[in-house]
Amino acid sequence: MIHSNVDSAKKPQGCPSQNKGQDMAAKQKKEEEAIKNSLSKIKHKIFVLSGKGGVGKSSVSANLAASLSKQGYKTGLMDVDVHGPSIAQMLGLTELLDISANQMLLPKQVAENLKVVSVQALMQDKDQAIIWRGPAKTGMIRQFVSSVDWGELDFLIIDAPPGTGDEPLTVVQTIPEALGVIVTTPQEVALADIRKSISFCKTVRLKTLGIVENMAGFSCPHCHQHIDLFSSGGGEKTAKASGLEFLGSLPFETKVVASGDSGTPMMFNNEDTAFTRAFDTIVQNILKQIKL
Ligand SMILES: Nc1ncnc2c1ncn2[C@@H]1O[C@H](COP(=O)(O)OP(=O)(O)OP(=O)(O)O)[C@@H](O)[C@H]1O
Ligand SMILES: [Mg+2]
Repeated sequence: MIHSNVDSAKKPQGCPSQNKGQDMAAKQKKEEEAIKNSLSKIKHKIFVLSGKGGVGKSSVSANLAASLSKQGYKTGLMDVDVHGPSIAQMLGLTELLDISANQMLLPKQVAENLKVVSVQALMQDKDQAIIWRGPAKTGMIRQFVSSVDWGELDFLIIDAPPGTGDEPLTVVQTIPEALGVIVTTPQEVALADIRKSISFCKTVRLKTLGIVENMAGFSCPHCHQHIDLFSSGGGEKTAKASGLEFLGSLPFETKVVASGDSGTPMMFNNEDTAFTRAFDTIVQNILKQIKL
């Protein structure tokens, strides 16, 4: 370091990267405060997770949020799936989110009691692949959680990508009071991954509300014969074996696919189907465990 005079050379300068470190610490502290402040106005946080991909986490999250909001609970829905955010599609979010005067993301009000944000709202091109390593993803999720102005909510539903990697871990570390809902399909291949999710929940001390078994059976629309597409009963057996609550079993219904693609979750359609009836049971089994 070259000093302009002897006086300045004698002044304690410290390490050149010292200021950078202090800046980072201050930024982190500010972020932590913003997270705490935002989450303190939300009564209950429910984290939907699974060790396996494609088992219906996003569909369960979207329908759980729809069902709770329809019952009058002020509900928020958020995905932290950086690589495959489905919530925007499932709730019909097409535009970028608005930003408040104090630079907070404003969730989209999609129904009377339902607000939604998707990590996709931060992406300029929704078809662009995101190639990020762990620390960048963790930073992005924390920043995302700290930047959303939810206001007062009864429930926040968080949809995660599959597995037990950076994203679920960041959610648990950022929102330690969240309650887990594990989603599986009934076949052994899925259950092997679910046992890892159960172990994940135990390791990180995530309190778990129970297991949902999805795509459990299919009723042929022509002959009405019942077909076990992915075997049956595996979710309940795994719940019993691991001492977790079995929240219920959802059938495979083609209308669920169509409603997911169209941006209106099944539980918003006032239709009486095997899926909506089974979903009502699951919501009741969740609500009876929560002090409202
Ligand atoms: N019970 C069901 N009946 C029929 N289709 C379903 C059902 N549940 C989910 N699906 C469909 O299966 C597909 C995968 O579901 P979804 O995206 O919810 O799974 P996911 O676990 O979130 O996947 P990912 O691991 O990629 O995040 C979607 O097209 C969805 O509409
Ligand atoms: Mg998903």
